Formats: sequence, C-alpha cells, structure tokens
Amino acid sequence: MPVNQIDAATIEKVAPLYERVKSVIPDIEWPAHAPYVAAINELKKEKNAVILAHNYQTPEIFHCVADITGDSLALAQQAVDTDADVIVVAGVHFMAETAKLLNPEKTVLIPDLGAGCSLAESITAADVRTLREQYPGVPVVTYVNTSAEVKAECDICCTSGNALAIVESLGTDRVIFLPDEYLASYVAEQTDVEIITWQGHCEVHERFTADELESFRAAHEGLTIIAHPECPPDVLAMSDFVGSTAQMQDYVINERPPKVLMVTECSMSDNVSAGISDVEFIRPCNLCPHMKKITLANIQASLETLSPAVEIDPAVADRARAAVERMLDVGRSKMTEVAA
Ligand code: 13P
Ligand code: SF4
Repeated sequence: MPVNQIDAATIEKVAPLYERVKSVIPDIEWPAHAPYVAAINELKKEKNAVILAHNYQTPEIFHCVADITGDSLALAQQAVDTDADVIVVAGVHFMAETAKLLNPEKTVLIPDLGAGCSLAESITAADVRTLREQYPGVPVVTYVNTSAEVKAECDICCTSGNALAIVESLGTDRVIFLPDEYLASYVAEQTDVEIITWQGHCEVHERFTADELESFRAAHEGLTIIAHPECPPDVLAMSDFVGSTAQMQDYVINERPPKVLMVTECSMSDNVSAGISDVEFIRPCNLCPHMKKITLANIQASLETLSPAVEIDPAVADRARAAVERMLDVGRSKMTEVAA
C-alpha cells in the first residue's frame, strides 16, 4: 500500500512504538517515519516475512520494524531458526548472503544491493587460493565480512564475537586469518597460535585514532571507552573493553558505566541509549555509508516487490555454507560443554 494511502488509524496503531525511540528521535521527525513503520509491519504479516537488523541500523529500523536484532553472529544463528518465507536483511550484503546460505529455500531480500563493506571488498577468492599455495596445509579462517566466493575458499568462518574461539578450535600452530588485519592482530595478542593475515581494514573503524580518544579522556573524567576489534591496535590498547557490537551492548547494559564512549558506528549509541537513562553516551562516532543505504522506504519497497533478492552461485554456495556451518557448530559444541 503506498504510504499516502495509509489511514490515520494505522498511524495511531504504531504510536506506542514511538515510546521505544523517543529519546533518540525528535517528535518532529516521527511523522516522517510512522507511515513506513505502519506499512512495513502490515507487509511483514501479509508476506510472512521477518526483518533481521544489524546493530548499526538506525533506531526507527532497529526498534520499530526489526524482528531479530544483533551482531553478525546472532543474525547468522537466528537466521537458521526462522520459519518465515521471506527474510529481509537490514544490514550489508555479506550478512544477506550469510542468511541466504543458511536458508537456501527462502526468499532473502536486501533493500539496497549496493550496501557493501570495505573488508569484503579487500579480498577475492583468487587471493585466498594464492595464500593457500604460499602456506600449504595452513587452515584458513575467514571473517564473515567477506563474499560467498571467499568463504567458499576457506575452512571455517568467524565473527568478531567468536574469532579467538574459532582460531583455537582448529588445534593447529598456525592459521591464515582473513581479511581484517586489526581483528587478526587483536586475536594474535590472546593466543599462542601464529596468525598470518591480510591488509584489509574497515573504512569506518580505521578512522578512529588514539589521539582522539586521549582528548576525550582528558575532557570527560571517569569515561569508560569500549571499542570494536576492527579498530587499529593503538585505539584498542586505550580501551577499557573490546568486543563485538553485541558484546559492547551487553557491556553497557550490565556494567552501567556512568559515562561511556562506544568506539564504533554511530547508530550503536543511539540504539543502546534508547533503552537506558542512567548512562551518559559521549558520541564521537563514524558512519558506515553502506549500513546507511538501508532505509524504511527501501525496506517497504523491498517487501512490496520481493526484490532485490540475494542469489548465490550454486558452484560456491555449498562450500561457503559449509564454512559458515562449521563456525556455528563450534558455538553449539561450546554451549553443550557449558551445559554439561
Ligand atoms: P559485529 O559482528 O560485531 O556486529 O560486526 C560487524 C561489522 O560489520 C562491524 O563493523
Ligand atoms: Fe564493513 Fe566497516 Fe561497514 Fe562493518 S562498519 S559493514 S566492517 S565497512
């Protein structure tokens, strides 16, 4: 249904959703979002669709239309469990590919096919084959922030939330860890396994500097700094906590630091602060231009037209899926150990 045909009663129905975001979306802006929020929530029922939203999505998407939210690991894990016919990924292309790999029979949509990632762009399948020739017999761990073609060339995937556990699960002295140089060096600091890496960087996190953080510490007494492991090593060294986006969120929810600086993409602080009033968020942040390609308008259009759909070359899909499933299996066996 076009937005201008949505009636006042439907808009009224979504008014309670504004309660979730009113601390981060000014009331003057809500009327621009409300018709889309109403339409999308109706369309999801009509099409038996779910929306997976990454932690970097804007609050009106994250809090008002998403069914499943989280970091890359949580989105991959929960994509497996859905019984919806249609999955809309409010995130970037590699996340939609992962959802498709795990749900080959379902329609997986990404509202803008141009929502890429500088890490995924930094390496090709041919690069991985060359590295394998250079280091025969050394297993390849690939960050999920890569294309399905690259995943198909590797032994196992990892995310920022489980990278160390995945590297150590292989039981080898050396691993090739691709493509994020900074995540690789962060893992290398915590293990005896020798890490061979690549020079890929996240264009958002590589821009943070230790000098910048130093100035914030000087200006804000008692500041807690928490950072994503895609940041450069000197930034991580200055941080009080390092973790995936979900781990950063959990840290703030559980530890309640009086003043916190989340060294990551801008929407993180908005989404976390929407539910918390006793933490002051200091907000230098960097925008991910790829994540920001996803909007309420293109989510609605995507649900209406069931496009653009993600398709993966069958020649690579089975091998890429196996690498993602091996990662999920490591997580499952760890959970079984904890339960035993
Ligand atoms: P997370 O898995 O920590 O959510 O990270 C994904 C990402 O793209 C960070 O830039
Ligand atoms: Fe990729 Fe960085 Fe954007 Fe995450 S924040 S999607 S790693 S470019």
